[in-house]
Amino acid sequence: MKRKIAFFVFLLAVLVSFLASCRKDFPLASFGVNYVDVNSFIPRGFPASIADLNLRADNPLTLEGIALGRRLFYDKLLSGNNQQSCGSCHIQKYAFTNGPSFNLSTGADGISRTLRNAPATFNLMWSKTFTWDGAQPNLEEQLIGPITSPVEMNQDLKILLEELRADANYPYLFKKAFGTDSITIALVQKAIAQFERTIVSGSSKFDLWLQRKVNLDSFEFAGFMLFDDQKKGDCNHCHSKGGTFTNFDFKHNGLDTLTVGSNPDVGRYGITHFGFDFMSFKTPTLRNIELTTPYMHDGRFQTLEEVLDFYDGGFHYNKNLDVNMALLPKHRLTANEKKCLIRFLKTLTDVEFINNPVYSDPF
Ligand code: HEC
Ligand code: HEC
Repeated sequence: MKRKIAFFVFLLAVLVSFLASCRKDFPLASFGVNYVDVNSFIPRGFPASIADLNLRADNPLTLEGIALGRRLFYDKLLSGNNQQSCGSCHIQKYAFTNGPSFNLSTGADGISRTLRNAPATFNLMWSKTFTWDGAQPNLEEQLIGPITSPVEMNQDLKILLEELRADANYPYLFKKAFGTDSITIALVQKAIAQFERTIVSGSSKFDLWLQRKVNLDSFEFAGFMLFDDQKKGDCNHCHSKGGTFTNFDFKHNGLDTLTVGSNPDVGRYGITHFGFDFMSFKTPTLRNIELTTPYMHDGRFQTLEEVLDFYDGGFHYNKNLDVNMALLPKHRLTANEKKCLIRFLKTLTDVEFINNPVYSDPF
């Protein structure tokens, strides 16, 4: 009896190893994705209920989808002249912004300029709308803009599909991620959006301090206190402290209409046509702010010193100015307080994040 069982076990082992070797030889025949738990991307202290997250039921995160999305994000094949990828303007070492060289980004042709400064594309799982004016409701739809825009990647979507279908790797990678032979733009959108949702920064010095693993020095701590002191920084009203460091709300923060080009950028007003939205923009995160110069939707400020001078004395009172800012007197911060605020902002730099190989260019 025992021998029979042993033989049966042996047979089973042979069968299993045969099937396993089949899987290796014919991976396409065995579609099976590895689902990824969204919770594994949520840092401590971040909003964690599903209602807080920009997720889509028809696009669950999978290891295969994220890997494909990462490749597409960094593939120059996505642009018309194969010179530019998403990663050309959203650069990891600058916390997925364009970096300090220009206020505005340069398109694939090397000449055209975008109308706005490239925002940081991390922690976007918590954002409910996308782009500076919130024109886009989700990550899937947002990315069609840069691919097709003549001042960005300038790509014809039909040609993109032909190129992806003719590629040596993509048919296999799409099959692995989505179990289908037919590559479509909808699947390109899904894959890139999956990757974007995993780009999360939440391990700065500030986070380690919250976890009592490091100390803030006295300047950093003073900045931390000034940040939400309503008579001083008052930054907290919009760039809510902790978590994402923004409420993602549209606000007029007192910038004047100075813009590059002839027409002022009307911001959120261009979408809603509500008078009170004139020149309101989506409040950006302050995480990694040390790395994301130039600042504001048009990249008008080069340094955090300029930004603090603006919030202290340079902002303009007007009817659309945020109600909390409208209450603030000018020149309420001393030079030392501005320095402390900057020291605090620099504790939001996440070195682990900008060096994390899972977000890096796979090519
Ligand atoms: C030529 C530079 C450039 C390229 C290439 C580019 N972007 Fe952007 N990206 C921008 C700019 C500029 C904006 C701001 C647009 C606006 O507000 O109107 C932006 C905005 C975004 C946003 C909105 C972020 C937020 O906080 O709301 C996301 C997401 C994004 N890009 C992802 C991508 C993806 C994915 C690709 C590749 C398919 C891509 N971008 C390619 C420059 C670029
Ligand atoms: C009324 C809401 C509000 C308050 C209060 C506020 N901000 Fe902002 N902040 C914004 C908005 C909105 C933008 C984007 C404006 C734009 O580009 O037109 C912004 C942009 C910034 C930027 C540039 C970010 C980037 O990615 O370009 C920095 C830095 C910044 N704020 C820091 C601060 C600091 C520091 C304080 C406190 C001294 C503060 N903010 C107070 C709403 C606010």
